[in-house]
Amino acid sequence: MKSTPIDYQIVTEKIKASGLKSVGTASIREIKKLIDEIEKATAQKFIRMEMGIPGLPPEKIGVAGQIEALQKGVAAKYPDIQGVPELKEEISRFVKLYMDIEVDKEGCLPTVGSMQGGFACFLMLSRLFNERDTTLFIDPGFPVHKQQHRVLGRKFASFDVYNYRGEKLREKLESYFKTGKIHSVLYSNPNNPSWICFTEDELKIIGELATQYNVVVMEDLAYFGMDFRKDYSKPGIPPFQPTVARYTDNYILFISSSKVFSYAGERIGMMVISNKLFNTRFEDLLEYYPSSQFGYAMIFGTLYPLSSGTSHSAQYGLLAMLKAANNNTFNITKSVLNYGDKARVMKKLFTDNGFEIVYDTDIDQPIADGFYFTFSYPGMNAEQLLNELVYYGISAISLLITGSERTEGIRACTSLVQVSQFGDLEQRLKQFKSDH
Ligand SMILES: Cc1ncc(COP(=O)(O)O)c(C=O)c1O
Repeated sequence: MKSTPIDYQIVTEKIKASGLKSVGTASIREIKKLIDEIEKATAQKFIRMEMGIPGLPPEKIGVAGQIEALQKGVAAKYPDIQGVPELKEEISRFVKLYMDIEVDKEGCLPTVGSMQGGFACFLMLSRLFNERDTTLFIDPGFPVHKQQHRVLGRKFASFDVYNYRGEKLREKLESYFKTGKIHSVLYSNPNNPSWICFTEDELKIIGELATQYNVVVMEDLAYFGMDFRKDYSKPGIPPFQPTVARYTDNYILFISSSKVFSYAGERIGMMVISNKLFNTRFEDLLEYYPSSQFGYAMIFGTLYPLSSGTSHSAQYGLLAMLKAANNNTFNITKSVLNYGDKARVMKKLFTDNGFEIVYDTDIDQPIADGFYFTFSYPGMNAEQLLNELVYYGISAISLLITGSERTEGIRACTSLVQVSQFGDLEQRLKQFKSDH
C-alpha cells in the first residue's frame, strides 16, 4: 500500500466508484464532484484549483445598488432589451476612462454574462456573409465557447498561439483569413487558461488584419484589468487596458463582471460594439433579421429572442459599480490583486519542486501572476499528472480541453486556494517530488 498525503485506498476507491475512465480526461464539473466526495470521505481538504470561479465576496457597491433597485420595484418590469439608459451611459464612460476608446452608448449592451454575449455574437456573425461560415479561435481558450458553436451547429477553426507569438502571429492569422471563410476571430486577454497577454504589437497585427480582411474581432475581456504587471485601475490616466480597439474599428468587446467585480452569480456582462460595426449594414442578415443593420439586428433580432434583455436589478448593480469606478470612488482591481499575490507564491512552490510553467512568457517578459497559471512535470503527460496529483490532494484540469497543443500542461486556478493552505501545498509538492 502506497503512502500518499490523501489516503491511497480511499482515493482509489472513489475514483473507481465515480465511473471515470481517468481523472486526467474528466471535465471540470466531473473533477469537482469526485474531489467533493474524496474530501468528505477523508475529512481532508484539497488544494482546489479546478474551477475558475471568484474566491472573493461580491463588490458591496453592486449589491447595494441592486437591493435599492429591487426595493423600488424593478423586478416587476421588463427591462429594455438594449439596457437601462443610465447603464449604457456608464459603460460608454467606462471604456473611455479605462480603455481610452470612444463608443456611443447605443453600442453598449448588458448581456446575461459574457457567456450570453458570446452566444449572441456566434449566432449573428455566422450570418453576416453567406459565403463565410467559420469562427477562428486563437487558442488556448474557454471550452464553453466551442460548446456554444456545437449546439448552434456552427463551424470553427483554431490554433494554439504558443508557437505563434509576436510577428509570427501575422502569417498564421493571414493563412486563415485568406481562405475567405472566416467571419470572426475570438481570443481572451488576459487568456484563460494560460494567462498570456498579447503585446501591443500583437494586438496591432490582429487589428490590422481584421480591417484588411473585414473580419470581426471578438475580444473577450473576462479578466479586465487583471494583468497586474501594470496598474490599469486609474480612470482617465494611462496605462489603459490593452485592446484591439485601438487598431481596428471592426470589433466587439465582452467585458465580464464575474471576475473583476466578483459578480458571477448575477450573470451580468457587457457587450461593446464599435460604432462602425454597430451601424454597418449586411444584406445577408435580412434572411433572418428585421434589419440589415448590425446593432439593430443584435438587439431586436438576437438578444430579444434569447432572453428579452438582462435582469433589471443586476443592471442597476452593475450601474452602481461602474458609476463609482468612473467617478474614481472605487478601485476596480484592489480586491482582485490578491489573486496575483497568491499566484506568485504558488508558482514558486511548484517550480521549487521540479514542476515547470508551460506558458511562461509574453515574448520577452515573464508571464503575469493572476487568476490562472499552467504547469507540467517532466516525463509525465497531463493525464498521468492529474491522475497522480489527486493522491497528493491537488486538483486541477488538463489543458487538452482548452485547445492547447501542450499535452503535458495543466491549468491551475488560484482563486479558491487559501493562503492558510500554502503549507499543505508545499508539503504535498515536496512529497510528490521525492516520490517521482
Ligand atoms: C475567457 C472567459 N470568457 C467568458 C467567461 C464567462 O464570463 P461570464 O461569467 O461573464 O459569463 C469566462 C468565465 O470563466 C471566461 O473565463
